[in-house]
Amino acid sequence: MLSACLFDLDGVLVDTARHHFAAWQRLAQERIGVTFTQQDNEQLKGLSRLESLNYILSKSDRNFSEEEKFQMMKDKNDWYLLLVAELTPEDALPGTTALLQSLKASGIKTGLGSASKNAPLIIEKLGIAHLLDVVIDGNIVSKSKPDPEVFIRGAEALNVSPSETIVFEDAVSGVAAAKTGGFSCVGIGQPDDLKQADFVVPDLSFITIALLNNKFFSH
Ligand code: BG6
Ligand code: MG
Repeated sequence: MLSACLFDLDGVLVDTARHHFAAWQRLAQERIGVTFTQQDNEQLKGLSRLESLNYILSKSDRNFSEEEKFQMMKDKNDWYLLLVAELTPEDALPGTTALLQSLKASGIKTGLGSASKNAPLIIEKLGIAHLLDVVIDGNIVSKSKPDPEVFIRGAEALNVSPSETIVFEDAVSGVAAAKTGGFSCVGIGQPDDLKQADFVVPDLSFITIALLNNKFFSH
């Protein structure tokens, strides 16, 4: 029986990748002196802020102190927040609000499972905070995806088991986290990119509760 759905944030409920890209690119150019491309940005999907910074720093020959790294993460996040401040409910990706509303109406629990420390602000801006029963984010978890901690904690907080919970993820590491944790997983994106997902759709507008029950709980 379908009891709960857990959603990644960036790339599933909202397209923030372009804002992360703009902020990391500015940092790479202005502070580190390396190039940062869209392909690089793809590698950062699902990684924590520190892991993302370390990826960019690995392109440089210079060594940076912990203080410098801390300041870089702060600057990047300040720039990111300027862009995030402009988000409105119209920026929720297709199908997001309708699916969350229909899950709530059907008594199916909902939760967020994200690496982002900015998750509470972003769901507030999107006008969907009241549609999520729990928020497990980068302020709470200690192990990054592909470790399943974020989704395991989400299921525990909702008092459901992974076998009755579906995770929605756009990152390879996030899909791996879901499968390692024993969850069913719907990939958001391209089937060729998300091979470990049980099935893949372009966005949440393709998802109905009937489809989920049919795919995962009809046997
Ligand atoms: C993930 C994004 O959801 O959150 C990553 O896919 C991002 O790109 C990570 O680095 C951490 O986000 P934040 O908002 O805490 O810097
Ligand atoms: Mg994501």
